[in-house]
Amino acid sequence: MGNITFTMIKPCAVSQEHIGEILSVINKAGFHFVSMKMLHLSKSQAEKFYAVHAERPFYNDLVAFMSSGPIVAAILQKENAVAEYRKLIGSTNPAQADEGTIRKMFATSVQENAVHGSDSDENAEIEASFFFSQIERFYK
Ligand code: GTP
Ligand code: MG
Repeated sequence: MGNITFTMIKPCAVSQEHIGEILSVINKAGFHFVSMKMLHLSKSQAEKFYAVHAERPFYNDLVAFMSSGPIVAAILQKENAVAEYRKLIGSTNPAQADEGTIRKMFATSVQENAVHGSDSDENAEIEASFFFSQIERFYK
C-alpha cells in the first residue's frame, strides 16, 4: 500500500467556486498536500491523461470537459492513500455516492463529478509524474 494518490478538482467544481471547500474536506480527512497547481489542460494533454479510456464511448466528451476550463492538480499523502481517497470521493456517479463524500456534496453528474482520484498505486505515480517533477514534491 503506497502513501500517495493523485487528484484533480475538475473544471465543473472550479467554475462553481468549490476549490476552497473541497481542499478543506481533503485536509480535514487527514491528507497532506505534497504538491499542488492550477492549470488549464489543452485538448491533447487531456487526451494523453485519459488515454486508458480511449476506447470508452464517453472518451471524447470527457476530453472536451476536462479541457473546458482550469483544474487544480495535487498529490496527496496519507497511509493507504489510494483506497482512503477513493472512499472520501465516493462513487463515480454522484447519485450512488454516500453522504459526506466529495462527489455527493459537489458533483452534478457522472461526467461532471467534481474530482478525480487515482485507482491504484501504480497509476498514482504515473498521474503524479504527468503533472509534477520530484523537486515540486514536498512529502511529510
Ligand atoms: P476518476 O477518478 O475521474 O478516474 O473517476 P472514476 O475512477 O470514478 O471513474 P472512471 O475512471 O471509470 O472514469 C473516468 C471519468 O470519466 C469519470 O470520473 C467521469 O468524469 C467520466 N465518466 C465515467 N463514466 C462515464 C459515463 O458513463 N458517461 C460520461 N459522460 N462520463 C463518464
Ligand atoms: Mg478512474
